[in-house]
Amino acid sequence: MKFFVDTADIDAIRDLAQLGIVDGVTTNPSLIMKSGRDIKEVTKEICDLVDGPVSSETVALDAEGMIAEGKELARIADNIAIKVPLTWEGLKACKALTSEGFMVNVTLCFSANQALLAAKAGATFISPFIGRLDDINLDGMDLIAEIRQIYDNYSYDTEILAASIRTANHMKQAALIGADVATAPPNVIHAMAAHPLTDKGLESFLKDWEKTGQKIL
Ligand code: G3P
Repeated sequence: MKFFVDTADIDAIRDLAQLGIVDGVTTNPSLIMKSGRDIKEVTKEICDLVDGPVSSETVALDAEGMIAEGKELARIADNIAIKVPLTWEGLKACKALTSEGFMVNVTLCFSANQALLAAKAGATFISPFIGRLDDINLDGMDLIAEIRQIYDNYSYDTEILAASIRTANHMKQAALIGADVATAPPNVIHAMAAHPLTDKGLESFLKDWEKTGQKIL
């Protein structure tokens, strides 16, 4: 499973990129607002740090506007994936942009039928939002599983990009189901490394080591 980082925080991206685990980045208007940065400037910096796809989101509501904004965003760097919402207009924009060779991430997906339409419209990525479904007492992971089955049934190339990931357990579940990509905030990726038994084991090893009186260096 590929890891994308869901943030526009340059320091956090740089920190994770050093580990070699960043396959791409996703941003959205809320994350740009949170960064306090100009969208084009910060997106350019992200694209310089990361080789993989960097999703940058359009805000127009009509297909024509999304196409124009998408092309403007794609001028920032070759690895831009244009993000459009899963509306009828977004699907039209997706078809037009992918036909011209742009990568398109269709976002705000909350149903398998929406994901099916996005694949038919040639989406590069479909972004089902797990956490926001969980928020309304549904199971976001069920949606990932449904889309996986449908895409496999027909060998669609569209990659399932599990989004709105809130916990390390979401990452595990997405990987078990076979999401192609999961995009998570930096704190969730850090949380994947944590285990209380690791901490406990390390503490006990260090206590015993101290008793030996030895040094490695
Ligand atoms: O990738 C989409 C993501 O940014 C939304 O996450 O936590 O705002 O639902 P969240």
